[in-house]
Amino acid sequence: MKFIFATLAFAAAALAQRVVITSPSQGQNIPAGSSINVQVAEGDQLSSVKEIGIAVTLQHCQQNPCEDVEDDLGTIFYAGPYQPQFFNPPSPPGAPYQNFTVNIASSFPKGPAVFSVPHAQLLGAGPFLNTEIANLTVNIV
Ligand SMILES: *[C@@H]1O[C@H](CO)[C@@H](O)[C@H](O)[C@H]1NC(C)=O
Ligand SMILES: *[C@@H]1O[C@H](CO)[C@@H](O)[C@H](O)[C@H]1NC(C)=O
Repeated sequence: MKFIFATLAFAAAALAQRVVITSPSQGQNIPAGSSINVQVAEGDQLSSVKEIGIAVTLQHCQQNPCEDVEDDLGTIFYAGPYQPQFFNPPSPPGAPYQNFTVNIASSFPKGPAVFSVPHAQLLGAGPFLNTEIANLTVNIV
C-alpha cells in the first residue's frame, strides 16, 4: 500500500505543471524605458493542481552567459495569482497562458538581463508543495 502511494506521489511529481516564458523570445533586444508583454504558459491543468501564484522579475546580469540569479531576482514587476487560460489564437505551444505587461525603467542597466518566473502550486491529493523558477535571458538596449 505504502509503495502504491509513493508511486502515485512520484507520478504526480512527474506531472508537475511547469511554467514556460513563451514571450519575449530568448535574446530579444528590449529598449530600456519600454513596455513589453511577458507571456507565461503552462501545460494543461490537472484537476489535482491548485495554483498558488507566480512572480515576474527582471535582473541585470553581471556576466554573459548570465550567472544564476535565483537568490537575487531583481526588479519585481508582478507577484500574485496565476490564472492561465486558453485563448484563440493559442500561444505557440498551444498551452493556456497569461500575459503580464511590464514597464522597464529607462534607467535599467543595458546588456543581458534575465526574466525569472518563480511559481508555486499544490499538487496531488495530499497535496504537496511544488515550486520552480522558470527563466529567460533577454538583452536590454
Ligand atoms: C535559469 O534556470 C536554470 C534551470 O533552473 C538554472 O540552472 C539557471 O541558473 C537559471 N539562470 C539564471 C540566470 O538564473
Ligand atoms: C498576449 O500577448 C500576445 C503578444 O505577446 C498577443 O498576441 C496576445 O493576443 C495576448 N493575449 C491576450 C489574451 O491578450
